[in-house]
Amino acid sequence: MHLAIEAVGLGKTYKKNNVRANVEINLQVQQGEIFGLLGPNGAGKTTFVKQVVGLLKPSTGKLKVMGEDVITNPDAVRNQLNYMSQNIFAVWHLKVREVIENSGRLRGLSAGEAKKQTQNLLEELGIEQHGEKAIFHLSGGLRQLAGFGAAFIGKPRLLVLDEPTSSLDVARRRKLWDKVRELNQKENVTVLLVTHSVVEAEHLLDRLAIIQDGKLRAQGSPGELKQKVDNRLRLEIIPHNGGLPSGFTRDLGQFGEVFEANNRIVVLTSRGTLQNAVGLVEQYGFDYIDDFRIGTTSLEDVYLKLGGGILGTA
Ligand SMILES: Nc1ncnc2c1ncn2[C@@H]1O[C@H](COP(=O)(O)OP(=O)(O)OP(=O)(O)O)[C@@H](O)[C@H]1O
Ligand SMILES: [Mg+2]
Repeated sequence: MHLAIEAVGLGKTYKKNNVRANVEINLQVQQGEIFGLLGPNGAGKTTFVKQVVGLLKPSTGKLKVMGEDVITNPDAVRNQLNYMSQNIFAVWHLKVREVIENSGRLRGLSAGEAKKQTQNLLEELGIEQHGEKAIFHLSGGLRQLAGFGAAFIGKPRLLVLDEPTSSLDVARRRKLWDKVRELNQKENVTVLLVTHSVVEAEHLLDRLAIIQDGKLRAQGSPGELKQKVDNRLRLEIIPHNGGLPSGFTRDLGQFGEVFEANNRIVVLTSRGTLQNAVGLVEQYGFDYIDDFRIGTTSLEDVYLKLGGGILGTA
């Protein structure tokens, strides 16, 4: 089995503030998979990604990308990967068309080929009418689509996307997911994708790693990770502004594991006891809550169980 990314004991400490942003990370991404990194703000996801693409030098450990040692030879894989960074553009004054074309040229396409592929991508991404606009004139979402254009051109073997769809509306987000899947399946492009979105993770990823405080907390397929909370149901309660009466959360604890974050309460309960939990909510009365929902467990619950906060669900 060929590995696209192999990190062994990878660590990164930023010297200027002594922050240990990655700690002893052991992670393998197989060629041909869509692999995700999920974790809260400041967890160390971008730091990891920047080491993979050769923009940051690891402090400790080993890191191979497409079989090459990027610590001793950071240039070796540059022409095999495309990277869409979290802050996409330094080139504000350039036009969308120019940015995509330049990316293609940097990746070794001929002028003619870069032009042709740029035109195709502008059409495919639905931004042809914005091709002649400068990047700084675009909305956040269109800017992100232009970023995709620059990331997709030139047929990379490894695509590294750092929160690529955070500014896109739902329809465009789904379109982009389809495109990433298509590149993965038809062109065998390996994808490393950072996301905060549980929906994106469940939709797109073959496997993922959950990172917190610079450390890898869990990895596996969405299905494998969900087995940690399997066969349970979730009851989610949104308290009214005034909060909940004392004792409410404690009482809920009889029926399962209770997590509180971002003004929401999540109870993971077995199928048999769900009714009792709902009964308790009724008993306290609905004046205290704005909403409550019952659903099946998601990756977010795995994440809650690992001690993290509530992630974005967009
Ligand atoms: N250039 C830098 N110099 C010093 N510290 C940094 C630098 N970049 C990141 N950090 C710190 O390293 C830690 C990890 O940051 P990183 O950007 O990797 O997190 P992240 O998981 O990508 O977060 P987000 O979800 O907000 O993008 C944070 O504590 C951050 O403040
Ligand atoms: Mg980041």
